[in-house]
Amino acid sequence: MTLRRPPRRALIAIVATIVVLAPLGFFWQRSLVPNDLSPMAMGYADYGGGPATAHDHHGTDVRQLTGPVDHKPDVVVDLVARQERFDIPGRGSTDGYTLNHTSPGPRIVAKHGDLVQVTLRNENVADGITLHWHGVDVPNAEDGVAGVTQDAVGPGQSFVYRFVAKDAGTYWYHSHQVSHEQVRKGLYGVLVVQPTPTDVVAAVHTYDKVRTVNGEYGERRVQAPGPIARVRLINTDNGPLAVWVDGAPYKVVAVDGTDVNGPTEVSGKSVLVTAGGRIDLEVPTAKAVRIGLGGGPTTLVIGEGDAPTGTEPRERVDLLSYGSPRPLGFDPAQATRSFRYGIGRRIGFFDGKPGLWWTINGHQFPDVPMFVVSEGDVVRMTIANTSGQVHPMHLHGHHVVVLSRDGVRATGSPWWTDSLNVEDKETYEVAFVADNPGIWMDHCHNLPHAAQGLVTHLMYAGVTTGYHLGGAPDNQPE
Ligand code: C2O
Ligand code: CU
Repeated sequence: MTLRRPPRRALIAIVATIVVLAPLGFFWQRSLVPNDLSPMAMGYADYGGGPATAHDHHGTDVRQLTGPVDHKPDVVVDLVARQERFDIPGRGSTDGYTLNHTSPGPRIVAKHGDLVQVTLRNENVADGITLHWHGVDVPNAEDGVAGVTQDAVGPGQSFVYRFVAKDAGTYWYHSHQVSHEQVRKGLYGVLVVQPTPTDVVAAVHTYDKVRTVNGEYGERRVQAPGPIARVRLINTDNGPLAVWVDGAPYKVVAVDGTDVNGPTEVSGKSVLVTAGGRIDLEVPTAKAVRIGLGGGPTTLVIGEGDAPTGTEPRERVDLLSYGSPRPLGFDPAQATRSFRYGIGRRIGFFDGKPGLWWTINGHQFPDVPMFVVSEGDVVRMTIANTSGQVHPMHLHGHHVVVLSRDGVRATGSPWWTDSLNVEDKETYEVAFVADNPGIWMDHCHNLPHAAQGLVTHLMYAGVTTGYHLGGAPDNQPE
């Protein structure tokens, strides 16, 4: 009797299947993001060439890094978050999230040096919420990142934020829990520190393909505040926004809350507002002017009567050479740490899902570098994007100054930024002083990209957090 051997072809097929599936299974398994993960246990430490040991903040918990606890606040704001239907003037009603029944939420205004106290209450947002003060270098415990600096605030719960508005400028706030959904659907608002009598705020937001300015659709009008307006443009969307002025020349007077030194007059050019970023323009308003907001029906007219209608000027203001230099206040040549934030993309699994996923220095979330610094470090960082798409990079708790782009040195006003538009194939070198201890997100502000893992942290040696991603509060910062 002869034993029937499996045909050779079948054997080859079985072996081939194992050869293909085993590593696939391995990579699938390895890509699963744990349901309960400490941000401190993510990836690997990158010391940027500096010492690995911490001399400072040994054992400081983020909960200790609060704003002033006992002082009487100068600005008191109560915000109640709800999931509900609300009206977009000029367009109709939509489903989303509100703060005190409006989206954007109430505009918060503070004077320079004011202690701001915001009590956030969650009425019925099932996933929980937080508030992050985008561009404001608050103490770490006030930063509002679920799973890193606090737990998500569940329905019926509240949380109090306290921070000193130490830097005048244009900022905004938004949820940092399930932010890729909550921000898009309305959980955001404007914060202006040290407003001027010439202010015109223009916060641009897209609700379900409907682009709005200050929550309203179509041609919107405001009165001229005087012969000159300071237009505070805020891009709360996921992609870059070109803005320009029809009817008058203008100056770019601030970027991400920092004044430009020696701004010069611009005409026939647009300026790009990075996703998450802010640009302040100074615009003469003796005659009505129109602020173009990326093209399309939503524009902002300042003043009475007809304003000219233009199209987006092709030429752009280049902040690398705009304005005039002035001292930075520190010397980037004396850097004590240098990091690389290389953004790529590759085929693989992310949390068990196959696809094309972002990488940081060749690693995928959560196996990404943690950039470790000590207080007082002068830090250089090279952000290199080879991923095929643009990424608006946002570091919490700090402002960075641009040193160069693609090897071309910055020659204009110091370009201080917290939201930097890094195009595909671009390389920026930036620098900053590590002067705000904590654990700080450093992520792409195209929030769906962040949800797909384009997130890492700047960590001060010795600072720890007891908060976890996932866990019982189901913290999901992105
Ligand atoms: Cu505007 Cu990490 O946020
Ligand atoms: Cu991105």
